[in-house]
Amino acid sequence: MNIEKHSGMMTELHSDTLVQTWDSILAIQTDLFGPEEVNLLKSWGFEENGGGVLDIGCGNGAYGHFLAKEFPYVKFYGIEKHPNLIRNAQEKLIKINNYSIFNCDLNTHLLPDDVAGQFNQCLLRLVLQHCPDPFKIIKKVYDSLPKGGRIFVIEEDDDFFKMYPDCKAFNDVVRIWKTVCETEGTERYMGAKVPILLKRAGFNVKKVKVLPQSNFEVGPQLIDYLIESVNLMHLTNKEIVSLERVASIKQGFDRYLEKHEDHWFATYPEIVTMAEKI
Ligand SMILES: C[S@@+](CC[C@H](N)C(=O)[O-])C[C@H]1O[C@@H](n2cnc3c(N)ncnc32)[C@H](O)[C@@H]1O
Repeated sequence: MNIEKHSGMMTELHSDTLVQTWDSILAIQTDLFGPEEVNLLKSWGFEENGGGVLDIGCGNGAYGHFLAKEFPYVKFYGIEKHPNLIRNAQEKLIKINNYSIFNCDLNTHLLPDDVAGQFNQCLLRLVLQHCPDPFKIIKKVYDSLPKGGRIFVIEEDDDFFKMYPDCKAFNDVVRIWKTVCETEGTERYMGAKVPILLKRAGFNVKKVKVLPQSNFEVGPQLIDYLIESVNLMHLTNKEIVSLERVASIKQGFDRYLEKHEDHWFATYPEIVTMAEKI
């Protein structure tokens, strides 16, 4: 598999529509799944270390801004390799004092001077699944942290996708995601791989939480998120997801909701890991 392919769904962000759809996905992911993640981070003492946080692969910075508001005494440094996502951050997000973004590909570049040495914690949220060599990134994080510094990783893991009662549209979304991941080289089981990779890099893995976020916590908008994901996969992989298939999935969810109203259960599958440099 060549490197470009193995950068997964985020290899190219050439069209405005694609960037806008990513913006929409990142916003929904932040709104729906962010609050429960923050509760977990708080319970793991995220704000107690006192230093800055390096937010690697921060995308358009929407999630980073959300975190910076939740942890006003922590200084965040976002780094992102796609300049057009950063441009959006600079244009659309309200400036806040404790969050800044820098253009940097951690695979190929050193950390910017304004960032190196400014942090004692690192966060990687929904990034490693898109990386050609996740271990290389983790090793770089290890080397850039001081002793006692910590890494927090939030990743998806497909084994925890579920919808009950059975929903054909949901099964179709999961099937499409599987095919796109296999075609593009995006890792579907990154959540389970992370603790193993961290241990191999020399970290002491201290906490692992399987966090399937259900519609009972995040609301029925979980279905909107699934539909927006299929829209995105249509834009990146038209040969796998036609416009007709997107429309049929939307109709399928409409019919399901007509039948089951709010008597259904679905999960978005996350695994959160925290480790310390010893
Ligand atoms: C799915 S987005 C997640 C964005 C953000 N962390 C969030 O949770 O909303 C993954 C981001 O990681 C970035 N990324 C992947 N590899 C990177 C690298 N080597 N250096 C910097 N950014 C990277 C991608 O460009 C993309 O914007």
